[in-house]
Amino acid sequence: MKHYSHRTLLPFWGKVIVTSLIIIMNIGICAAQSAGLKIHYLGANHSLVQVREPQKYLLLPVEEAAPEATVNVLVNNKTDRSFQVRLAVNRIDYLVPFDLEQYKGKTVTLDIHTGNSRANVRDAMADACWKELKLSDTFDDANREEFRPLYHHSPLYGWMNDPNGMFYKDGEYHLYYQWNPYGSMWGNMNWGHSSSKDLISWQHHPVAIQPNGLGTVFSGSSVVDKDNTAGFGKGAVIAIYTSAGASQMQSLAYSLDNGMTFHVYENNPIIAADKECRDPNMFWHEKSGKWILILAAALEKEMWIYSSPNLKNWTKESSFGHGYGAQDGVWECPDLMELPVRGTDRTKWVLICNINPGGPFGGSAAQYFVGDFDGKTFTCDTKPEITKWMDYGKDHYAAVSWSNAPEKRHTVIAWMSNWQYANNVPTKQFRSANTLPRDIELYEGGDGELYLAVTPAPEVNALRAGKALKYGSFSAGTKKVSRKLPAENSGICEINLELVPRSAGKVYITLSNDKDERTVVTYDLENSTFSMDRTASGLTDFNKDFPAITVAPCPAKAKLCLRLFVDRCSVEAFEGDGRFAMTNLVFPQHPYTTVSVAVDKGRCKVNDLTVNSLKVNN
Ligand code: FRU
Repeated sequence: MKHYSHRTLLPFWGKVIVTSLIIIMNIGICAAQSAGLKIHYLGANHSLVQVREPQKYLLLPVEEAAPEATVNVLVNNKTDRSFQVRLAVNRIDYLVPFDLEQYKGKTVTLDIHTGNSRANVRDAMADACWKELKLSDTFDDANREEFRPLYHHSPLYGWMNDPNGMFYKDGEYHLYYQWNPYGSMWGNMNWGHSSSKDLISWQHHPVAIQPNGLGTVFSGSSVVDKDNTAGFGKGAVIAIYTSAGASQMQSLAYSLDNGMTFHVYENNPIIAADKECRDPNMFWHEKSGKWILILAAALEKEMWIYSSPNLKNWTKESSFGHGYGAQDGVWECPDLMELPVRGTDRTKWVLICNINPGGPFGGSAAQYFVGDFDGKTFTCDTKPEITKWMDYGKDHYAAVSWSNAPEKRHTVIAWMSNWQYANNVPTKQFRSANTLPRDIELYEGGDGELYLAVTPAPEVNALRAGKALKYGSFSAGTKKVSRKLPAENSGICEINLELVPRSAGKVYITLSNDKDERTVVTYDLENSTFSMDRTASGLTDFNKDFPAITVAPCPAKAKLCLRLFVDRCSVEAFEGDGRFAMTNLVFPQHPYTTVSVAVDKGRCKVNDLTVNSLKVNN
C-alpha cells in the first residue's frame, strides 16, 4: 500500500479543494438566482438576466460614477429595444424601474454589456447591482429628497431637460419633456409627459414617445390640427421632434387621444438635412395659410424656416441668424411668435433662440430677436451685434411657449438648469425642474428698443396659502433690518416688496438661514443693475461653474417693485412689470428663514413687504 505523507497529501487535497471551488464557481458563473430572475454571468462584461416570474417592474440599481452598460431587451428572443444604464459596480445610489407590464405573457431577457475595465468574470459577479436587482410590483416615486421642488414642475424620477411639445386643448395644458427614465443623468431621451388644468398642479403620465430605430427622441413641438390638414383626423395632436441616431432628422408622431398616446408616423423622417439640425417648433401662420416650422441648425448658428400645407411635406423658405446676437455656442430650441407691444395696438414677431454655451454668465441661456415675419422670412429689427436675454440668471434654458393657448396667450416655461453642471446638482432620484410658467409680451424700453416683459403666469397666485406675513413699510440703513420667512413647507414662499432707494447707492436684500448660507440680491443704483449672488447660498462646490453672481440691467428708479419666488432649490426674481427676470438654482442645507434689507450708504425705504407661504404642489 502506498504510504502518503502529509507533504504528499497536501497537493492532493489542494486539488480537491480547488476543483470543488471551480465547480461551485462554475455553478455561480452559469446561473445565479434572485427571486424570479436567473442571471448568467457570461464574461467579464457580458451577462444575461432571464425574467422567470415577471412582476410589474424590474428594479435596476444605479451608481452614477459607474460606466454606462448597454441593455438589449430581448422579448421572446428578439431585440425589442436597447438603453443605457449605469449599473452599480461599487455602491447603489438609487433604483430605477424597468417596466415589464408592457411585455405581459412574453419572455423577457436582458442582454447586458457593461463597459468596465476588467478581465475576468468573477469581478463582474461582484458588481453591487446583482444583489439588489429585483422584481417588484411597486416602485416608490414619493421622492423625499431635501432639494426636491415643492411647487415647480419636475419629473417623478429620472433626469429631465428641455420642455417639449407643449400644447393646450380642451381645458388642459400638456407638457412633455426630455426624459431619461433609467437614471438621473442625461441619456436615453424619451418624451416624458405631464398635464395640468391650471399650469401649477401637474399630473404625471406614462412616457409619451420612446426611442425607435431612427434614434432617441430629442426636443420638438406639437400643434392641434383643427382642420385635419395632415389627414390623421380633426383635432389630432401632431408632434414633430428630432430623431437622434447617428445623425439628426425630424420625425412626426400623432395622437388621437389628446396627447395621451402617440403613433409614430411610418414615413419618418419628414425632414432630413446633411447638417446637425434639431428641435423643430411649429405654428399655424394665419396670413399665409400655412404651417411654419423653425429648426435649429445648431452648428451653423442659424434658424431655418420651413412651410407646409399638411405638416408632412416641408419646404425650406429661409434662414436667419448668420452673425446675429450671441454666437459663442450651438443654437437650439427655437420658437417664433407674434406678440403684442404693451400699451399699443401694435404687434411684433419674436424669435427665441436658446444658446449653449455662450450665455451671459457662462453655459446655457435664452436670447431673443425682435422683428417681422412675412410667412417666409424673419427680419430682425436690431443690429446683429445686439443681444437680448430673456432671463438674467444661470438657470433658464430651452424656453419655449405653449401652442394653441387660450385667449391668444403666450406662456413660456424653461428648464431650470444649465448644461455646465446640470448632471452634478446635489439631487439623486430625480434631476431638474422647470421654471414657473411665465407670460410674455413686448414693451418699449427707455432706449426705444422693444424688449420682452416676463411675468409669472397669473395662475401662480393660487399657490398662496394661509395668511400672508404682512410686514408693512419700514426704512433700512447700513445695519440690516430682518424679517422672518415662513417656517412651514420648508420655507417655500413668495416675497413681494417695493423698494424706494432714496439716498442709497446699493440696496441689499438677503435670504439667509441659521448656517449663514445666503443668497443676496442687490439693486445697484450707481451702476443701474440688479444682481443675485449665490456664491455663499448653500452647497456650491459640486461644480466649479456653480458659484456665480448674475446681473441684469436695471435703470435707477425712484421705486422698484420686486417679486421673489423661493422653492427648495431655486430663487426666481421678477421686476414688478416683468422688465427683467432672473432665475438661479440654490442649494441651502437648511431652508432660508430670514429676509433682510440693508444699504451701503444713506437709507432706503421698503414698502409693503409681504411674504406669502406657498402650497406644496408636488
Ligand atoms: C437642448 C438640447 C436640444 C436637444 C436636447 C437633447 O438642451 O441639447 O438641442 O434636442 O437637448 O436632450
